[in-house]
Amino acid sequence: MKDNEWQNEITNLLKKADIPCTNGFKIKPLQGGVSSDIVRISLPENENVHFCAKRALPKLKVKDEWFAPVERNNFEMAWLTCAGQILPKIAPKVLAQDEKRGLALIEYLPPKDYTLWKDKLLAGKVESNDAQNVGTALGTIHSATLHNPELAARFSTDTLFYALRLDPYFKSLIDRYPDLNDAINSIIDTTAKTRMALVHGDISPKNIFLRNETAQPVFIDAECAWYGDPTFDIAFCLNHLLLKAIHLPAHSTELLTAFEKLYQSWLTAMPSSLQDELAARTATLLPALFLARVDGKSPVEYLNESARETVRSLALKELRNPQSSVYALPHSIEALN
Ligand SMILES: Nc1ncnc2c1ncn2[C@@H]1O[C@H](COP(=O)(O)OP(=O)(O)O)[C@@H](O)[C@H]1O
Ligand SMILES: [Mg+2]
Repeated sequence: MKDNEWQNEITNLLKKADIPCTNGFKIKPLQGGVSSDIVRISLPENENVHFCAKRALPKLKVKDEWFAPVERNNFEMAWLTCAGQILPKIAPKVLAQDEKRGLALIEYLPPKDYTLWKDKLLAGKVESNDAQNVGTALGTIHSATLHNPELAARFSTDTLFYALRLDPYFKSLIDRYPDLNDAINSIIDTTAKTRMALVHGDISPKNIFLRNETAQPVFIDAECAWYGDPTFDIAFCLNHLLLKAIHLPAHSTELLTAFEKLYQSWLTAMPSSLQDELAARTATLLPALFLARVDGKSPVEYLNESARETVRSLALKELRNPQSSVYALPHSIEALN
């Protein structure tokens, strides 16, 4: 995007949010994302107060060509707003939006108060309390949005979810592993047809800030919001802990404990009548996601070739001969050490 275009758009957003900016503003790009332009805004009047502007890109910054409609920014903002109504402070406040251009101004989370969970985990600071808080918050959002026709209509983003998640993560595996055709297609079909709760769609530690003081999570980056299968969210996040357990063998015991805390706190927040079916779908999704982050269209950046080989062999064993337990992969990882 051209710089002056960005400037104009931010000026308009600040106006919409009733934030005076007659003396201009400074912008600093925020790193980390692949699907949006995202900047921190500071006003000369008060250098300590910042805002965040985010604009969805039509083409994602990944190796393969990957296009996605910019309207996903509107669903992201709707998710942040909806989640904030269920659990205050669980998401940045939405301050202004330009729905046509897929652009929004949101609350900025300053590094003095918030740490990205991914940074903490990769630094070896694995605390099961963090995982437990994430699981409880996620389960609370899922459980508060169960079987809700209004939300199902507001977030009927099935086409987007297919394009951003089911196709690149799962469908792309079939070319490489033709023998998994039936298993993977069945996962795609079951996930796609389950319309149960409000899903975030990208519950990864890189999209979760933790408040330094309380260890309470703040979720960002809800571009894949969808009314669908909540097990996608929990499996997605559990998978990241497994990948990190392979990447950081010295911390694998703590990471697997965090896995258990995350899963149990999430499941406990869901109605007991649903727990069996949720456990079964989570167990089925997990090995497919594990393999997808190595051989799908959006591989994680931190694994070396030997770690990727380990992920492949454990995931394929489970996909070809499913144990139907969420703990099958963690147990296999434990047995490596
Ligand atoms: N509200 C915010 N406050 C502070 N930093 C943020 C905020 N939103 C995003 N960031 C930073 O920018 C990075 C990319 O933002 P994100 O919304 O995840 O974009 P993408 O969709 O491109 O992944 C995040 O990992 C985080 O470091
Ligand atoms: Mg992100």
